[in-house]
Amino acid sequence: MLLREIKNVFHAELDPLYDKEEVDSFFYLLIEYFLGLDRFVLAIQPHLIISKENEEPMFEALSRLKLNEPVQHIIGKTHFMDMEFVVNKNVLIPRPETEELVRWIVGEVAGQAFQAKSGPLKILDIGTGSGCIAISLAKHIPEAEVFALDVSEEALQVAKENAMVNKVEIELVNSDVLELESLDIHFDIIVSNPPYVRELEKNEMQKNVLEHEPHLALFVTNENPLLFYERITGFALKNLKIGGRLFFEINQYLGKETERLLRDHNFSEIEVRKDMFGNDRMLRGIKVHKTTAL
Ligand SMILES: C[S@@+](CC[C@H](N)C(=O)[O-])C[C@H]1O[C@@H](n2cnc3c(N)ncnc32)[C@H](O)[C@@H]1O
Repeated sequence: MLLREIKNVFHAELDPLYDKEEVDSFFYLLIEYFLGLDRFVLAIQPHLIISKENEEPMFEALSRLKLNEPVQHIIGKTHFMDMEFVVNKNVLIPRPETEELVRWIVGEVAGQAFQAKSGPLKILDIGTGSGCIAISLAKHIPEAEVFALDVSEEALQVAKENAMVNKVEIELVNSDVLELESLDIHFDIIVSNPPYVRELEKNEMQKNVLEHEPHLALFVTNENPLLFYERITGFALKNLKIGGRLFFEINQYLGKETERLLRDHNFSEIEVRKDMFGNDRMLRGIKVHKTTAL
């Protein structure tokens, strides 16, 4: 079959389910992954023929896309901060908004907004999932010692693989942050993108997220949507050095409430930032001397 005919089949079958641009992007990702072809191939070779044998994985992928499976699961990887990350059903697929949070942290460290007083900068990522935050911080701040915590052993396996793929060292911690009081380490930075989607927001979500991404990574109850933020803020008060910084990715609808939580815990220089879509998406606070001296 001609490659362009395969593309036409993709559009015929998937346009009713996804945006046209999204279908294009699936198609180009899949021809790169399965056939080693780049996205400009059709402009250069409009009559390129694909053998029956090579067509097969493309049509198998098409069937999986029709069942709402994320394309990242089909090819087993995604990109984050210009690095490649293995993903599977046990981890959240890293989102572009989370890159903005990582860039904020890297920018503050590079701008020497703060430095470790002695020894390497110590960073903890809570709810690490694929390890995307921890690993990109380790890559961009090579002098830091980075710890990555998750309750899911399966997620930590993926984070371990991603650390190897990206040639960085991180310390993995298997623990439930809702139960954890202290780690006997004082950190310069604690960062977390915890579960924050309320059950009531489920109807805004696409099927490929709802049916294929881990609910453990996504959902909190309507009654207590800030549960993780409360626990992590309490943990940070005990486990951040004085002057240490707490960074969160946040639920866009709960910016004010999450900000108030940090204020109530006497964090200072609290700042909420919007993501590229204009939604409240990340928050930073500094633990100051007068609150809970370590
Ligand atoms: C929203 S995902 C974030 C994953 C990754 N950090 C990212 O930004 O793409 C939340 C993560 O928190 C983990 N998690 C859920 N409950 C937890 C708990 N009680 N203790 C520690 N981690 C937890 C999930 O396994 C999941 O990996």
